[in-house]
Amino acid sequence: MTTLTPTVNPAALPQAGAHAPLPGGLPDPATLARLANEFFSTLPGSAGAPGVAAGSGAVGGVPSALPAAAPILASLSNPAPAGSPLAGPGGTGTGVPGLELPQGKVPGANLAPSAPTHVLALGNRAPALAPHAAAANGLPDNAVSIAPALEPRVGGALLGVPQAYAAAEPAGPVPAAEAKAGAGERSPFYFTDSAGHGWQREAQEIVVPAHGRAAPETFGLPGDESLHGLLTLNRPEYGAHDGAGRYFLAGRENATAQGDVARSAHPPFDVNAVRRDFPILQERVNGKQLVWFDNAATTHKPQAVIDRLAYFYSHENSNIHRAAHALAARATDAYEHARKTVQRFIGAAAPEEIVFVRGTTEAINLIAKSWGVQNVGEGDEIIVSHLEHHANIVPWQQLAALKGAKLRVIPVDDSGQVLLDEYRKLLNDRTKIVSVTQVSNALGTVVPVQEIVELAHRAGARALVDGAQSISHMRVDVQALDADFFVFSGHKIYGPTGIGVVYGKREVLEAMPPWQGGGNMIQDVTFEKTVFHGAPARFEAGTGNIADAVGLGAALDYVSRIGIENIARYEHDLLAYATSVLAPVPGVRLVGTARDKASVLSFVLKGYTTEEVGQALSREGIAVRAGHHCAQPILRRFGLEATVRPSLAFYNTCAEVDALVSVVRALAPRQ
Ligand code: ALA
Repeated sequence: MTTLTPTVNPAALPQAGAHAPLPGGLPDPATLARLANEFFSTLPGSAGAPGVAAGSGAVGGVPSALPAAAPILASLSNPAPAGSPLAGPGGTGTGVPGLELPQGKVPGANLAPSAPTHVLALGNRAPALAPHAAAANGLPDNAVSIAPALEPRVGGALLGVPQAYAAAEPAGPVPAAEAKAGAGERSPFYFTDSAGHGWQREAQEIVVPAHGRAAPETFGLPGDESLHGLLTLNRPEYGAHDGAGRYFLAGRENATAQGDVARSAHPPFDVNAVRRDFPILQERVNGKQLVWFDNAATTHKPQAVIDRLAYFYSHENSNIHRAAHALAARATDAYEHARKTVQRFIGAAAPEEIVFVRGTTEAINLIAKSWGVQNVGEGDEIIVSHLEHHANIVPWQQLAALKGAKLRVIPVDDSGQVLLDEYRKLLNDRTKIVSVTQVSNALGTVVPVQEIVELAHRAGARALVDGAQSISHMRVDVQALDADFFVFSGHKIYGPTGIGVVYGKREVLEAMPPWQGGGNMIQDVTFEKTVFHGAPARFEAGTGNIADAVGLGAALDYVSRIGIENIARYEHDLLAYATSVLAPVPGVRLVGTARDKASVLSFVLKGYTTEEVGQALSREGIAVRAGHHCAQPILRRFGLEATVRPSLAFYNTCAEVDALVSVVRALAPRQ
């Protein structure tokens, strides 16, 4: 694999808006970049310093494997270190490490207007450099964020862009699919039959070096021991250590169903390194560093996902399953590989059990409109819980209205946990399906879904688990869970929007009728009759969201490299810390205080509307959702129409929690 050496003077590259002087007499971005370079090249361990290879660690790299001071800017137009195989769309490479320029391209030559793609690609960098609106304090939001906004790309790429692995792979035989596609060139990457190549490579376990310690101490904040002390002090029921020093979410039934949250093949990660993988976390809002506590609404995307999407559209884009050309084969393989990645990630038995849809809402609608219409009749009953998101209420209501069936609701206690005894009483031989969330989006309650599924099955009903809010926080093993359906959205787990998943047991999916008709889902069509494909194609009518399915695969690979148990443990401690500092603030009422919780800290503040609190936080650059969270029934159960809802992810820190709490504290309680 050739490593291209930059031959272009970056200063000669087009840089839209890059040299516009900034308001307030600040140096222009080019000067800032030069100063940053000079500064960082003087640091020990920087790319410019002896003994540190630029781009080192690309193979099997992880955030904490970065040089101690990774270069912030190699040049204004291209953040990759000079000489690095990452040097990219600035005309010196493809932007994907290890990938050769397409045949016939010469480094630098693709900057000519005759190659508009690459010129446009420069625009991806330029907006970060163009002046943004000035904040109230007169400081443009981009003035301070330019350098770090570019730097994370290095971390993201180093984290394991899979081509890096492919470089080390022996070339396999030309796969049949490639021959069939009539591909002229030999591609080492695109065929799932040739195991271990390119983007299609199976997720790797990466060993994180021992110095990659997790969060709080990094900020000079209380470490694990102090946090556990706090838990013992304030919330004795919240979490527990066992004798072997393992740390559990309370409620062992969940630990069994969702994987043991304490056990991890990965040592703790370095949250600062992880944060460098997410370029948007360097964004400034109102002149302040963005604090993203709206993760239950959507999560941010690591550079690995952003790069994967760009790579798809740059090198693989095609419709799938239906053409005899090379790009169709590449796109089809990338899409089907993503399906296998999802299968592995949730522990499904076969890729055929994975259907791609737009998101959780479409997933539940598919099941209600296909399985539901087929199997639910007059007088039948459908059970949901009081915690459900509207997406797990409305489709069932519609089905019940259509069929003359009844919707029955599992109540919750005052902590926001479902009452299993009441649930048992609801089950009977008219119950056709039980559909429950695994984690409440409004309260954060972790629901004992394994027990709920088991009881549903004993009553002869099917069970659906809504994983929209659980998938990014805990190990999900659908076979251990034994759910008939499990659904989730890609954008809640660091993947793109507009892509989601229905997992269905194979025999259940095969017995279900299609819900939409069209191309891609048929074997044969005449005017008299259509023969449908089996699952999953029969549920994927029309051209689907191919690129974002591939992006979802990249997101799941990313999470797998960090380790979901690692994430669960870190987030659990962070939530415990956040609870311990927010709960005592005068006027704060926490809503949702179940023993088992994930990610969410819903609250109201006496004397303030939730919108006022949300706006006060936003003025400080802190993003939370304030409102009904598309879960009105559960908020009304607590006498509320809205809450403020900070929701955490593994890239959040104790320092960010402190920033939130200090804003809430500053809002003196009003009577
Ligand atoms: N379901 C998303 C939320 O809870 C949008 O905020």
